Amino acid sequence: MRHLIGIEDLSVAEIEALVATAEDIIDNPAKYAEVCHGKKLASLFYEPSTRTRLSFEAAMIELGGSVIGFSEAQSSSAAKGESVADTAKVISCFADIMVMRHFKEGAPMVASLNATVPVINAGDGGHNHPTQTLTDLLTIKREKGRFDNLTVGLCGDLKFGRTVHSLIAALSRYTGIKFVLISPTELMIPDYIKHDIIEKNGIDYVETTDLEAVMPELDILYMTRVQRERFFNEQDYIRLKDSYILSQSKLNLAKSDCIVMHPLPRVNEITVEVDSDPRACYFKQVLYGKYIRMALIKMLLEAAK
Ligand code: CP
Repeated sequence: MRHLIGIEDLSVAEIEALVATAEDIIDNPAKYAEVCHGKKLASLFYEPSTRTRLSFEAAMIELGGSVIGFSEAQSSSAAKGESVADTAKVISCFADIMVMRHFKEGAPMVASLNATVPVINAGDGGHNHPTQTLTDLLTIKREKGRFDNLTVGLCGDLKFGRTVHSLIAALSRYTGIKFVLISPTELMIPDYIKHDIIEKNGIDYVETTDLEAVMPELDILYMTRVQRERFFNEQDYIRLKDSYILSQSKLNLAKSDCIVMHPLPRVNEITVEVDSDPRACYFKQVLYGKYIRMALIKMLLEAAK
């Protein structure tokens, strides 16, 4: 039984195969319209989501399957105290595959240890978000044409930003990568990511608080939101929330082929005027998310046969 809990669960070859399948789905959607006929996806969202939940649901429908689930913990028996382990056993009776977003780090892992169907982590607390990473990788492949020899600026909340943690893990497997880690000192990348992933893989990196100074060297600028829901103290959130705002004048400092990515939702960190710049890729990124999730559902269901 294959699950996807962290991006490390997939080899480089498997990730590249998923990207290739997603690209084939983009070119030949009719070929995939019935591959999940008769299969059910359970969509278990204990935390809010727009893109991840609806892209998974759209993905399953476009593969010819159907969807069951809930979009808030309060409408499930979690509100009565049911454990994630028991929920995973129960859902295995109803669905062929399940996707789980949870506010607690490790909850999808617990589900995978108790389920008899594949489990996909759709984001667990401040820990991991592997299908966002697959989305990001497909975006990079489509927009930059390669995964190696890239200078990647990661900007904003690098401490709690699970999308950043998973993307660093994925790109650290490639050569010629340089990370430019741009954050306020309070939201710097955790030491375990720096030491156990970036340094262990011999990846070049710098840490800075100055976005404008590094803008000209970037091939990719990956903006992130300062996440109110991860702060214990509202005053800290208010002080840090507008640390970085990408405006058109700042983007004008970047290379003509630099791409701007963002997992979304955006609050203030990219001004709306940037949306019409051809380098802004974040809405294309949303659409790529549906195609890569189609490829992932197909792969995990085939592995479970
Ligand atoms: N990128 C992302 O995870 O968005 P949602 O929270 O809307 O799913």
